[in-house]
Amino acid sequence: MTILVTGGAGFIGANFVLDWTSASPETVINLDKLTYAGNLQSLATLDGNPQHVFVRGDIADSALVAQLLAKHEPRAVLNFAAESHVDRSIHGPQAFIETNVVGTFSLLESVRAYWQALEGAKRELFRFLHVSTDEVYGSLTADEPAFTENHRYQPNSPYSASKAASDHLVRAYHHTYGLPVLTTNCSNNYGPLHFPEKLIPLIIVNALQGKALPIYGDGQQIRDWLYVKDHCSAIRSVLEGGRVGEVYNVGGWNEMSNIDIVTHVCALLDALRPRADRKSYAEQITYVSDRPGHDRRYAIDARKLERELGWRPAETFESGIRKTVSWYLDNNPWVEAVLSGSYRSWVEKNYQDRG
Ligand code: NAD
Ligand code: DAU
Repeated sequence: MTILVTGGAGFIGANFVLDWTSASPETVINLDKLTYAGNLQSLATLDGNPQHVFVRGDIADSALVAQLLAKHEPRAVLNFAAESHVDRSIHGPQAFIETNVVGTFSLLESVRAYWQALEGAKRELFRFLHVSTDEVYGSLTADEPAFTENHRYQPNSPYSASKAASDHLVRAYHHTYGLPVLTTNCSNNYGPLHFPEKLIPLIIVNALQGKALPIYGDGQQIRDWLYVKDHCSAIRSVLEGGRVGEVYNVGGWNEMSNIDIVTHVCALLDALRPRADRKSYAEQITYVSDRPGHDRRYAIDARKLERELGWRPAETFESGIRKTVSWYLDNNPWVEAVLSGSYRSWVEKNYQDRG
């Protein structure tokens, strides 16, 4: 049995592939374009492991996707591939439309053609799982209830608008063609292998380098933080037991303001790797101008996933953030390769050597 994962060299995709290959004998075909966010060094422990087949390519390359589907006959396709950074979407939205909207459309077309040609149990059991975000629901006020799966779509950034469009396409392919889809909408992830342009890894890396810790606006924006391995376990649950055509919200039951996140990370670093002058890393906190259109609050109601599939996060924020900070302290070569950009030249060399 085989699954095809897209975007499996990114933060969540790589964690998913690593967890999957350690827990299941099934082969993973990993299709990733290796944008700046794709890092094969995150998957270095799988080098030479036949259970992981890496293919560099674009989800929008329908000839390549059709060839991979025909050759490997996966029982499921899981779509992690996306442009994922809100700030980048504000500075340059085009790539978000190309991958998140047009790319997802193209992938759906390729998968539809493959699935329609399947017969019997293979067709019956096939699944397309689309990994999406809570940002499609827009922003909550302080006292509004958390997002349920029925919350209206109200995306506010080019990123969330492009993810919303992809969700609608996935939904339409089920309603129109009967494609057996599942969609997950998850809150903010954190954990190992997180690219240090996102809040938590940026704070850890900047703190250790003696740089400013930038807080956008007043720092009172609220996110619901989930340890990445818990997101991966939720996706596995939905893949195996989710009802076809359904949407499942995934969250950590852990709403925190950005400033509380940052001071928590600083306190852990103070304990685990104190500054030479014994002052707190919190002294490096710097308030900077706000993100345009910054959503104030996200909160996920994950009760459907618990009720139907018995999923709850395994980590508390305290245990997950401690593991995360420790991982960054213990994996300086990975961090250095990202910061210096050498992970990119390693990718080029790797492919050059393969001819
Ligand atoms: P990421 O940016 O770390 O990784 C994205 C991966 O997709 C990279 O490896 C990149 O090379 C690849 N990719 C980009 N365009 C591609 C294309 N056209 N074809 C093939 N591969 C391509 O993102 P992430 O944080 O791992 O997020 C994964 C998914 O989960 C995304 O769909 C994102 O919207 C969603 N999500 C992320 C979070 C979060 O907190 N990070 C939360 C909820 C949902
Ligand atoms: O909610 C899920 C989303 O979480 C995912 O869909 C996105 O792919 C993922 O990138 C993430 O989006 P955010 O915009 O919430 O993540 P980010 O880490 O960029 O920012 C988290 C919060 O911290 C946000 O309110 C902005 C703020 N922030 C971020 C950075 C990078 C700062 O205050 N300072 C910073 O330097």
